[in-house]
Amino acid sequence: MEYIEVEGGHAIQGELAVQGSKNAALPMMAAALLTSQPVVLERCPQIEDVRVMCDLLRYVGAEVEQQGEQIRICAKRISNTRLPSELVAKMRSSIILMGPLLARTGKAGMCFPGGCVIGARPIDLHVTGLRRLGYSIAVEEGCVLAESPLQAGRALWQKVGGRPQCGAVSRIHLRFPSVGATENLLMAAALSQQEIVITGAAREPEVRQLGRMLQQMGAEIEGLGSERIRICGCETLQGTTCRVMSDRIAAGTYLIAGAVTGGDVLLHHVDPVDNFPVLQVLEEMGCHISCHEKQQWIHLRAPEMLKRISVVTRPHPGFPTDLQAMLMVALCKAGGVSSIEETVFEDRFRHVEALRRMGARITVQGSRATIRGGSRLKAADLWATDLRAGAAMVLAGLCSEGVSRVYNLEHVRRGYESMSRDLLALGAHIKECLD
Ligand code: UD1
Repeated sequence: MEYIEVEGGHAIQGELAVQGSKNAALPMMAAALLTSQPVVLERCPQIEDVRVMCDLLRYVGAEVEQQGEQIRICAKRISNTRLPSELVAKMRSSIILMGPLLARTGKAGMCFPGGCVIGARPIDLHVTGLRRLGYSIAVEEGCVLAESPLQAGRALWQKVGGRPQCGAVSRIHLRFPSVGATENLLMAAALSQQEIVITGAAREPEVRQLGRMLQQMGAEIEGLGSERIRICGCETLQGTTCRVMSDRIAAGTYLIAGAVTGGDVLLHHVDPVDNFPVLQVLEEMGCHISCHEKQQWIHLRAPEMLKRISVVTRPHPGFPTDLQAMLMVALCKAGGVSSIEETVFEDRFRHVEALRRMGARITVQGSRATIRGGSRLKAADLWATDLRAGAAMVLAGLCSEGVSRVYNLEHVRRGYESMSRDLLALGAHIKECLD
């Protein structure tokens, strides 16, 4: 069995170039299905979820070549539109293939997605939105099957020739700014014969990057980064080359690692503006932060003692739910009583049990965790329950007394190229082992 072994009590110090973003790369890879021309993505993270997405794209008929951080995808023809359960079950983000498959072929089918177990994770917003675009969707026996009744519209449009008449506007309102639903709808709408206005859209930087990629491919999109996005669909989209943005969550993980160990971390290839929500919280906790927007670096120096804080996770530009578990580790070390309210996912406190076993004093009531700081954490053997909980356990190991082991690395590898490599570069006493 593989595990990460980490010896606590050493400050994290040094410089690191942050990996490309998982949450940006996955929808950008899916968007390659919208064109028959080649799409090249630079700086793709070499992580398990990206490998699963490569397999899914190959399955539907795309040619996929991966050379280090570069992935070239060419979906000249799409031969399969029903995704295989064994791949879909590995990654919840498989759902973002629905939009591009439908837009390109008029058909898509899959069983319900897998991924991290952090809540119910319904797909109603995807389904309702795609229905508003005119697709007919059946959800039965754990599977979703979608078809385009727009073929008639397409034929008519082709008969009159030229661009779609963006007169009839379809409006879609998302009752929650779902990242995946916004991305799915953006992709489906970009290759449609309609004008579509999405309100209540997600404002995450990864959504904005997908939108920019679609613009480069020829899509007409306005309002990226805002809660109202307008798309005027095109008949065809062209190939493009894009560089994937840096991973905000990996960056936040290593900044928090610096904060919990009394360290000093300089991260490169990171956008301070995109990372503002976490920087603001770390600053409030007493960390000294400097950054450079143009040169894309962030420097964090930890204080003697972290200050208590109350944080609520929210969609961007709020504090990201994906960093909640790591922040909780920092709050175990802070002075005073802190609280975290998790408002995005309903079951995202699975790391609490592991932290308690290490000596943390945390109580949970519904969506709110109260953390009594100043704990001296003790090393333990821990089992990652999901991707970000696993990362938090590694951070807990860094700031506890003794040697901890974190098992179930398959969760962590879904999102981090190698936490042990990165943290070793930052001076941690850490290694990956095989029993
Ligand atoms: C994306 C990120 C994930 C992050 C999450 C929230 C990717 C690949 N993953 O996931 O890392 O934790 O955003 O920032 O980008 N919801 C519904 N109905 C739906 C869809 C979502 O009720 O149809 C709810 C979910 O249950 C959840 C909330 O909306 O409570 C947020 O989910 P969403 O933004 O869709 O997350 P993902 O796109 O799956």
